[in-house]
Amino acid sequence: MPYTLINGKEVSEKVLEQIKQEVNELKQAGKKTPHLAAVLVGDNPASMAYVNSKIKTCERVGVTSSLIKFETDVTEQTLLNKLEELNNNAEIDGYIVQLPLPKHISEQKIIEAIKPGKDVDGFHPVNVGKLVLNLPTYISATPFGIIQLLEYYKIPTQGKHCVVIGRSNIVGSPMSILMAKNTQYANCTVTLCHSKTENIKQYTLAADIIIAAIGKPNFVTADMVKQGATVIDVGINRIASPDTKSGYKLVGDVAFDEVSPKCAYITPVPGGVGLMTIASLLKNTLLAAKKEIYK
Ligand code: GUN
Repeated sequence: MPYTLINGKEVSEKVLEQIKQEVNELKQAGKKTPHLAAVLVGDNPASMAYVNSKIKTCERVGVTSSLIKFETDVTEQTLLNKLEELNNNAEIDGYIVQLPLPKHISEQKIIEAIKPGKDVDGFHPVNVGKLVLNLPTYISATPFGIIQLLEYYKIPTQGKHCVVIGRSNIVGSPMSILMAKNTQYANCTVTLCHSKTENIKQYTLAADIIIAAIGKPNFVTADMVKQGATVIDVGINRIASPDTKSGYKLVGDVAFDEVSPKCAYITPVPGGVGLMTIASLLKNTLLAAKKEIYK
């Protein structure tokens, strides 16, 4: 059986069309245009590329955006002052602080300074707590995007064994919690593997669904995957490539060419999960503007 390629472009386009329509309806009803702000510190090329994509996508769906840039040597206090300003600015419905931050700035302190109602990344401890407790919240964008892919392709998840590789606060940890929830596109038995897991292959070989979020190029190889598995690749790794003009190319955490023939469904990189992350952020921004989570 040939595998089905999960088309993140197709699904994200549908989500963005829906958002665009809802933004138009808000405007036509005389309501304020949703406004997302993005805070970017330093000149990490990957972070700059992600933030630029987020801003561009806002334009596409009619959401107002503001990009707030700081030099790498900005002080933690200056950043905290800016967040306080954003928290109190009624024009801004939601905002993100692009991670990672420079070493001299505490990411935890920064995330805790974001007002939970404006935390459209869903990173604040209050929002993470709500996620764990099944309360309405902003689901962080990458896990939210993955659930929407499973839903779109009607991939069977109930009672299946899902192995999440990676325990980051942004992806692996919330993903493992979501996949275990008592909801239609979840209800999995979840195993969370990480850098200290012994013999990771024994778990991945028993997986119906593998979600790879470790940030290691081509980490998941064909010998680690069961025939008929669904493989979701969250990795976006830049590796040197003499074949491209830029001198680098993007590869996932999964060795796509050798793994895909064994799969029922698989996401490509690029063109898979990454596009859904941005669409989900915009979905959360719309929720923030409509005050659906926090009144
Ligand atoms: N860095 C990598 N992914 C993300 C994300 O989804 N949000 C933010 N703010 N930073 C990131």
